[in-house]
Amino acid sequence: MNLGVLVSGRGSNLQAIVDAVEGGKLKDRISLVVSDKEGVQAIERCKRHGLPYMVIKRKDFLSKEEFELAIVKELKRAGVELVVLAGFMRILSSTFLNAFPMKVINIHPSLTPAFQGLNAQRQAIEYGVRIAGCTVHFVTEELDGGPVIAQACVPVLPEDTEESLSHRILSYEHRILPQVISWISQGRVKVDGRKVIVEGGEYGSIPFNPNLEDF
Ligand code: GRF
Repeated sequence: MNLGVLVSGRGSNLQAIVDAVEGGKLKDRISLVVSDKEGVQAIERCKRHGLPYMVIKRKDFLSKEEFELAIVKELKRAGVELVVLAGFMRILSSTFLNAFPMKVINIHPSLTPAFQGLNAQRQAIEYGVRIAGCTVHFVTEELDGGPVIAQACVPVLPEDTEESLSHRILSYEHRILPQVISWISQGRVKVDGRKVIVEGGEYGSIPFNPNLEDF
């Protein structure tokens, strides 16, 4: 499968995909990385790994629609079949989503539907929950609210800071994101309304599912 990855910053989830591709666990190709910001770590990672990348900035377009259409055009040109939002800090509208129906996934650092939007890990700490985690979901127009494909949970410890919790969650983000890409790539992911079915016995929940491959 040709992957398009959208980033805005550090790019550690992009790195997890790159590592899975380079390590042979993913049979897919990263056909294009699009960053909406210049000078970010994600771009350095592209350079280091020889990945095709482009910077497309919102401020270079008169409207959000034109901005999104410009990204769509480049992704289509690169033959992208699945779009992965890996720390892309913008909300995509139907203009973009209609170009890739149910072909856009996102990684969010909470167990959705809890703590949608920004600073999910801080929201979890402030709320006082005992269990936090991350979710890979299909992207719909509902912010961080599309059908869940996989979730991983981690404990929230009494001494946790936003930073320590984010770090713990991130290590699971790096596992479930490549895992979900491989399922989609193998054609095993079916959507039925809000419910996502992963064919082949897996259910997309870490760490409760011992059958889940260790990415
Ligand atoms: C991750 O926590 C991801 O869940 C959220 O943004 C962060 C991106 O981190 N959507 P990175 O750029 O992949 O390192």
